[in-house]
Amino acid sequence: MRVGPYTLSSPVYVAPMAGVTDAPFRKIAREFGAGLACTEMISSEALVRRHRESFRLMDLSWDERPVSVQLMGGDPQVMAEAARMAGEHGADIIDINMGCPVPKVVKTSGGSSLLRDPVRACRVAEAVVRAVPVPVTVKIRLGWDFASRNYRELSTALESTGISGLAVHGRTRSQGYDPSADWEAIAEVKALVRVPVAGSGDLKSADDASRRMRETGVDAVMLGRGILGNLWLVRQTVARLTQGAQIADLDWPGRIALVRRHCELVLEYYGSERGSRMLRKFIAWGLKGFRGAPRLRTMVQSVSSAEDVDRVLDEALRTDPILLVAACVAA
Ligand SMILES: Cc1cc2nc3c(=O)[nH]c(=O)nc-3n(C[C@H](O)[C@H](O)[C@H](O)COP(=O)(O)O)c2cc1C
Repeated sequence: MRVGPYTLSSPVYVAPMAGVTDAPFRKIAREFGAGLACTEMISSEALVRRHRESFRLMDLSWDERPVSVQLMGGDPQVMAEAARMAGEHGADIIDINMGCPVPKVVKTSGGSSLLRDPVRACRVAEAVVRAVPVPVTVKIRLGWDFASRNYRELSTALESTGISGLAVHGRTRSQGYDPSADWEAIAEVKALVRVPVAGSGDLKSADDASRRMRETGVDAVMLGRGILGNLWLVRQTVARLTQGAQIADLDWPGRIALVRRHCELVLEYYGSERGSRMLRKFIAWGLKGFRGAPRLRTMVQSVSSAEDVDRVLDEALRTDPILLVAACVAA
């Protein structure tokens, strides 16, 4: 699997996810064999105005290479300038967001609003391709809404701007994150263009990923919500797609050990104060599916130090969910 000059170690991408795919998250995903990870979306306007948080989002110091930086915006000049800055900052690939459905983003003519304006979408892609020496990829949805699904025309038009890859999220903007993704449409894009295509939507297991690759011929799969609280799925999917191997789910102590490692990295990266606020959601996701133990959930909400993290996870480890289920059944 190649993107521009890079040969990727596996066809498993980590989907860009705002508020999720930060440096610690990407580090674990790459350790588990992901072939490519992408930063959270970065506003091109904020970046060219040199907002501090944009540089934090673009920090690649923990990343395995290659790494992709995702930019969002609808102004070709601003996007080109932001791409130049990202390139100088060490981005190996620039990805352009043409799928974000959030109203605040759509109002700026970036994200999924570009789906409604293919001419502007191509001007943005062209400007970015011209601005940087690194490969440029684009992530699209199927269209703005069902009546205006334009993924066929858009994909071929974008390809002609000189981009090096496409990722397709198999939903329209108006579908948000439900109902299920349309992988037949993703297969159509794959058949239409020559650049590598990554498919995104509803991949919850290595079986899903393997079946979708086989059925659609996509070059890579992108893991999204399936890895929230379950980064192990990266490892399982890589093993399945590269060696045909089946790796078991983590047992309960294994899950807790992974949450613990993620928390340690978050605390190391952000420091104790900011880090402990940020990792609450990662702990909650990591322990999801865990029945009972409401006390544990309350403890997660008030985590504010490394010691609190240890307390919650030690308590979780003592409360084996299988024993809990057995106790409920016995009662
Ligand atoms: C919390 C969250 C944040 C996301 N942020 C981004 C983003 O910054 N850029 C982007 O292109 N897509 C973003 N997405 C979309 C995902 O990359 C992916 O395409 C989508 O979730 C579909 O895959 P799934 O059904 O496997 O989750 C986000 C999705 C979620 C759930």
